[in-house]
Amino acid sequence: MNDNQLLLKVRDLKTYFFLEEGTVHAIDGADFDIRRGEAVGVVGESGCGKSVTGQSILRIVPNPGEVVEGEITFYRYEKRDDGTEVQEVVDLTALDPRGDEIRSIRGGEISMVFQEPMTSLSPVHTMGQQIMEAIILHQKVDEDEARRRAIEMLRRVGMPQPESTVDSYPHQLSGGMRQRGMIAMALSCSPSLLIADEPTTALDVTTEAQILQLMRDLQQDLGMAIMFITHDLGVIAEMTSRVVVMYMGKVVEGADVDTLFYDPKHPYTRALLNSIPRLGHDKSERLESIKGVVPDPYNLPPGCPFHPRCASFMPGVCNVEEVPNFVIEPGHTARCFLYAD
Ligand SMILES: Nc1ncnc2c1ncn2[C@@H]1O[C@H](COP(=O)(O)OP(=O)(O)OP(=O)(O)O)[C@@H](O)[C@H]1O
Ligand SMILES: [Mg+2]
Repeated sequence: MNDNQLLLKVRDLKTYFFLEEGTVHAIDGADFDIRRGEAVGVVGESGCGKSVTGQSILRIVPNPGEVVEGEITFYRYEKRDDGTEVQEVVDLTALDPRGDEIRSIRGGEISMVFQEPMTSLSPVHTMGQQIMEAIILHQKVDEDEARRRAIEMLRRVGMPQPESTVDSYPHQLSGGMRQRGMIAMALSCSPSLLIADEPTTALDVTTEAQILQLMRDLQQDLGMAIMFITHDLGVIAEMTSRVVVMYMGKVVEGADVDTLFYDPKHPYTRALLNSIPRLGHDKSERLESIKGVVPDPYNLPPGCPFHPRCASFMPGVCNVEEVPNFVIEPGHTARCFLYAD
């Protein structure tokens, strides 16, 4: 496997919700790449579009939302009998969201761990039934084999007594166990990309550390890429090698993790880093210490959406023109007029 091979390419993605009150530009210009086996962090304040980015990739944006523009390309790599690999390019935006092709990708080649496990687990089916369903849908195995694999996967994710928890219903399990169950389900078909949407936000610190360690191990062992969505910059530093920063539906900066922490370019990223909660912070606390308020999503300011809060605001420029993505150096981009040449 070549680490530099692209796995997912997102360009100028726009996903809007058409509500009676108006149109919410949930994603309004997202650009980023994920390479094979790579862990990419997606960070930003509440409401900036992190979850909708994951939903857009899997084509599960709920009504009345829609991917209205842009490119989401998934690269599939298949081994031939002679050992060579062939690359196949799949345009995810072109697929029917209810069609067979996206359903074979969803939960198979790309899977997602959701922010709140209870919303994505069925309360009337056991953990085992739900994992087995995923396995049977994507792999040609019978029920006995699927059950064997479900138990094995539960063991890998550190579920206690997998032979018996496999027959438990989600409500019989603790939050940490449910999260492990959901990760087991997401990983049961060895996806090449795991979208992890705040997988540990609801957990206590010890369980969080265990789950993060587990995801790192599985990333190594299975060679899968992870898109790690979080508002926690500590988790980003620990888990990812590259980061994209989102603000009001736009990717405002993208860089490798060290560059992002030590040489951030976008004023929003700088403000975000300054707002890192101190030790002993309340985990449920959101990042709110940036000056000013997040704009009304129905009524975005013209130009750069961050300009009303920005320390480097240039009147007549930032509040007038759409900001393009500027390349600062290869692998480092910022959507900010400070970097226009
Ligand atoms: N089902 C929906 N219907 C209408 N608007 C939605 C829906 N889902 C998301 N949105 C809107 O889209 C924008 C982006 O939401 P999203 O859930 O992606 O934010 P987020 O970055 O994941 O936030 P958080 O950190 O709180 O999870 C928000 O303005 C939100 O209100
Ligand atoms: Mg979210």
